[in-house]
Amino acid sequence: MQKSEPHILCIFGASGDLTRRKLIPALYDLYLQNLLPEEFAVLGAGRKPYTDEIFREQMTAALKSHSATPPGDSPEKAVLFVQKLFYTSLDTSDPDSYSLVKQKLEKLDMALGTGRNMIFYLATPPSLYTPIANSLAKQELTTEDDGWKRIVVEKPFGYDLESSKELNIQLRKVFKEDQIYRIDHYLGKETVQNIMVTRFSNGIFEPIWNRNFVSHVEITASEAIGVGDRGGYYEGSGALRDMLQNHILQLVALVAMEPPVWANSVSIRNEMVKVLDSIRPMSTEAIEKDVVRGQYTSSVVRGESMTGYREETGVDPNSRTETYTGLKFYIDNWRWKDVPFFARTGKRLPIRVTEIIVHFQGSPHHIFSHGDHSSENNQLIIRIQPDEGLLMKFGMKVPGAGYDVQNVNMDFHYSSLSEVYLPAAYERLLLDCMLGDSTLYARGDAVESAWRFVDPILQYWKKNPDKELYGYPAGTWGPKEADELFSEGLTWRYPSKNLADDGKYCEL
Ligand code: BG6
Repeated sequence: MQKSEPHILCIFGASGDLTRRKLIPALYDLYLQNLLPEEFAVLGAGRKPYTDEIFREQMTAALKSHSATPPGDSPEKAVLFVQKLFYTSLDTSDPDSYSLVKQKLEKLDMALGTGRNMIFYLATPPSLYTPIANSLAKQELTTEDDGWKRIVVEKPFGYDLESSKELNIQLRKVFKEDQIYRIDHYLGKETVQNIMVTRFSNGIFEPIWNRNFVSHVEITASEAIGVGDRGGYYEGSGALRDMLQNHILQLVALVAMEPPVWANSVSIRNEMVKVLDSIRPMSTEAIEKDVVRGQYTSSVVRGESMTGYREETGVDPNSRTETYTGLKFYIDNWRWKDVPFFARTGKRLPIRVTEIIVHFQGSPHHIFSHGDHSSENNQLIIRIQPDEGLLMKFGMKVPGAGYDVQNVNMDFHYSSLSEVYLPAAYERLLLDCMLGDSTLYARGDAVESAWRFVDPILQYWKKNPDKELYGYPAGTWGPKEADELFSEGLTWRYPSKNLADDGKYCEL
């Protein structure tokens, strides 16, 4: 794999959770694979008054708990890696404080010869994106006359369509679009990238990947965890903003897109945005009929008491924030016209699973008896996590007399490739940014398109706060009303941790 050019990675929000849990461990894993350049440093900037030494100690502890390879496995390398970390404390609201960041960057650049190439990673609350970008510009740290400059922003990119447009306008005042990297960590998942490879490197799927052969498409992104200590953030977000607007719609784009001309950022992202632009806007009637929201209530799961959402820290006891959303929508283009897409996401569901199920139409003429009608359709299940892999379901003859048909599985599990290392999403995305490859980052227009679809639903809920918000006991598959999105005889696939097992509504 290619190594990036020398550079400094400057992380704003370096004393925060994301840096500790994801960024530094991902950098360490890249370092162990020899994918970081020799001339490289991380400059952490944060509110806490750390010294370089304290920051290094903190990050060594972070590696112990969060790195794929514990630092104890190669202690010498861990020490060398940590020496590449530096820190400067910063008051983000004080413009002068940025001149200290600049001085430290210049000093590091001189000492290490990083060619004035810099990545600014904003692991901060979104309210700071514009002020930080503007302050960097004032310090002349955004121009590329001497070395490249890139900025990485975490989701959420705005709070609705208007604010996302505004954020794009503000960022583009000081950075060019190709300098802006908007992270959606789902795109960094190996199995998400494999959606494109499965579709476009095989001749057998594309001819039937359309309205003539597909009956419907289902996407599930369920989580077993609740909101934990993120109640404050989640109250202003909810499942629609937190998961559907970004991660799920990116999955939709990949599963529904046309074949790109080239495997590069422009071609791929052009096709993705076309899908998002083609999603049928939801009318009020469609929202009332085809969108279901829910909120988890307390329950006992496997003997453990689970707190209801309204009792979580930082949550309003009368909150109407949805922790579950399930919906049906359509993509109005030649390939998908009138094929229903079903998507659901929620917290405190029975297990953590993300998967896409492409349901193919049944055979047109039934000459064999099929014991179980619901399983007549062929399905391709793309499992994003866990037990990553692919599962194809199809009918086979039951051995013995007659021609009875039974549905069977043909499955591939990534775990069977025991020699293959699956990089963590942040590892892949950080490396791509270092290499200047934005394919797996969300483009500004795609983010706005996704908001354009979600906005009417948010507006409707705002105007109609009394619209049903169904309670569902923690540890169950959400409100039963979400099952009614399907036409009779159909429902969601109820997945299990193991890709090949399904149909168990509640796995204990
Ligand atoms: C984040 C959301 O973007 O994705 C979280 O803010 C959610 O609420 C997380 O838990 C899920 O990511 P993953 O990789 O665990 O599926």
